[in-house]
Amino acid sequence: MAFSERALASGGVSGVRWCFGAPAIEVILVQYEALLDVYDWLIPDAKLTPQGSVAALGDLVRTLPADARVLDCSCGTGQLAVGLASLGFDVVATEASAGMVGRTRELADEHSVPLQAMAAAWDDLPDHFESSTFDLVICVGNSLCHAQGSAGRMAALSVMSGLLSPQGLLVLTSRTWELVRAAGTRMDVRDHLVRRRGQDAVVVYSWQIAQPWDQEHHLEIAVARLGPDGSVLTTSEQLSFWPYRYEVLVAELRSAGLGIVESTSDPASDVCRVVAALA
Ligand SMILES: C[S@@+](CC[C@H](N)C(=O)[O-])C[C@H]1O[C@@H](n2cnc3c(N)ncnc32)[C@H](O)[C@@H]1O
Repeated sequence: MAFSERALASGGVSGVRWCFGAPAIEVILVQYEALLDVYDWLIPDAKLTPQGSVAALGDLVRTLPADARVLDCSCGTGQLAVGLASLGFDVVATEASAGMVGRTRELADEHSVPLQAMAAAWDDLPDHFESSTFDLVICVGNSLCHAQGSAGRMAALSVMSGLLSPQGLLVLTSRTWELVRAAGTRMDVRDHLVRRRGQDAVVVYSWQIAQPWDQEHHLEIAVARLGPDGSVLTTSEQLSFWPYRYEVLVAELRSAGLGIVESTSDPASDVCRVVAALA
């Protein structure tokens, strides 16, 4: 498992702590590192391949100039970043989790596409890239909820906004948190086995919904892989998240200098995609 000193100060960290001696040295695990080996079981079938991930992004890709610079700033295991790089775009893939970045590099190598991948939390991006650099900034797959509350989201959105070129677009996808919260604290067990690399698994999401919206919430994800001999190998991790109302997101985007160009927001739909541009 990888430890990150940087994680002490940034978002994207879990609450797992060890203290050694006095004065105490605090080590916090970066979120998602424990799920690295089982992350494929969490990706929907349609987005498992780079091509599938690009297709899920929709028509937006066709509007990009051929030499567009693209930043996926929470790239996960890299399917979308690699898919966009294979279309010829100049892609940078960043992530708080160094393990995820490693997986992204491996996928890029597998597909023989050039791609710059780097471990960097949102707050760190201005140290690495000039402002107004990217034609498309992507933060998809429920990543923004890991920013710590309104202040963390504002900091992250301001960084993303600052990296956009004058005509650039920011794409965010998110769960409809109003629905997640309304369903309350619960355990969601997927209603079918998920098969990856020839192995079936049961996937469980255990939600801890705090009363106030702005309080830290928890989600424990467990992937129980079934062996041919009847054995069960369970990998799990507790993640922290801070949900937000759609109206709050819109206001925060505005405060970060962004206006909404397109939105699929629908109170009855589980997911929402927002495309924003500099106002
Ligand atoms: C649910 S995953 C989504 C990953 C990928 N976009 C996908 O769709 O599969 C959320 C990702 O956000 C990343 N993340 C959390 N906090 C972050 C931060 N402060 N900066 C950058 N990435 C962060 C996590 O490491 C994790 O890989």
